[in-house]
Amino acid sequence: MKLRLSAVRRVAVRTGAAALTAVVAADASASGDTDTFCAPAAARTLKIGTAVHAGALTSESGYQDRVRYGFGSVTPENAMKWALVEPRRNTYDWTSADAVVDFATAHNESVRGHTLVWGKSLPGWLTDGVAQGTIGDAQLKAILQSHITTLMKRYAGRVGVWDVVNEALAEDGTVDTGNFWYRHLGEAYIADAFTWAHAADPAAKLYLNDFDTEPVNSKSDGLYTLVKKLRAAGVPIDGVGFQTHVTTDNTLHTLRANLRRFADLGLDVAITELDVRMPLPPTDALLTTQADIYATATEACLAVSRCVSLTVWGFSDAYSWVPAALPGWGAADLLDQGLRPKPAYAAVHAALDDCGFTTTTTAAARHSAR
Ligand code: XIL
Repeated sequence: MKLRLSAVRRVAVRTGAAALTAVVAADASASGDTDTFCAPAAARTLKIGTAVHAGALTSESGYQDRVRYGFGSVTPENAMKWALVEPRRNTYDWTSADAVVDFATAHNESVRGHTLVWGKSLPGWLTDGVAQGTIGDAQLKAILQSHITTLMKRYAGRVGVWDVVNEALAEDGTVDTGNFWYRHLGEAYIADAFTWAHAADPAAKLYLNDFDTEPVNSKSDGLYTLVKKLRAAGVPIDGVGFQTHVTTDNTLHTLRANLRRFADLGLDVAITELDVRMPLPPTDALLTTQADIYATATEACLAVSRCVSLTVWGFSDAYSWVPAALPGWGAADLLDQGLRPKPAYAAVHAALDDCGFTTTTTAAARHSAR
């Protein structure tokens, strides 16, 4: 049952930029989460974010407006990935990453940096160099430290949160031994990455981000064990990101309990890449199911006071990564190909409204009002 916390009230209504960054105040005497729909937080900020395409963000005014008025945080979908940002050794191409960060700075949006250490999207010079033996393990370690340091120092003060390590775990919850970084540097790459990241920008919030960890399952159990171990060893990890790329077959009914157990470790948690794909073509029934799942994800974050942000992996089917990555699947986002809101869009807003968040100024509403 959805409970409305009577003590929840709006304290800050922000329109224009960062419309979906909301602050909710609740009964200050409340301590910790209870099993309620809206977490009682003395003053809670929950960022609603989206992944963005650097190209569209720099060239399409409609896209820009949707990001500006619909979201309070942006994640560069690809622009900060290694292959794009350092396509040749020691030669950085900042064009796209800067475009995203500059846009965010100009419009008072937060940036979630994505991602520093991942076994994918690596440039050929790096993987070939390692395969050919021209880059040895000690050198690889130095290259990784330098990469982390270079990105974080460039954006210090403007990118406040980083997905430091992405997708480190295997499906059974053990550390993924097939991962490029594991194969060459061993499990220590994870702790080292956080240590180097903290040294590069001590103010940044540092996250471990993964997928298929949303339910309570063997992968999230493994993640929980790993995070606990890292914390016990003094590794500077601030948060855990749950990608939440799911299908209309996922119910996400254990997401809330899962977020809470990580939060109870003293960490922030975030939904970082939410989308809900369906087998194509969409049907009314699938769209309704999708809306329920989006609502469940939003409600799970709202129920956990340390859930600090909810980011969708793109806001419209016109730009979604899903059809190319997973043929036969798609329609995963809040707006359809024609940028019309789907039932999921209303469901997310209803969930936010239920907890007192101000979501009246929305991209779609503004657009149609013009
Ligand atoms: C995806 C992008 O959306 C695609 O455009 C790109 O071709 C591949 O990467 N998990 C992640 C994201 O952490 O970086 C991925 O993004 C989606 C899965």
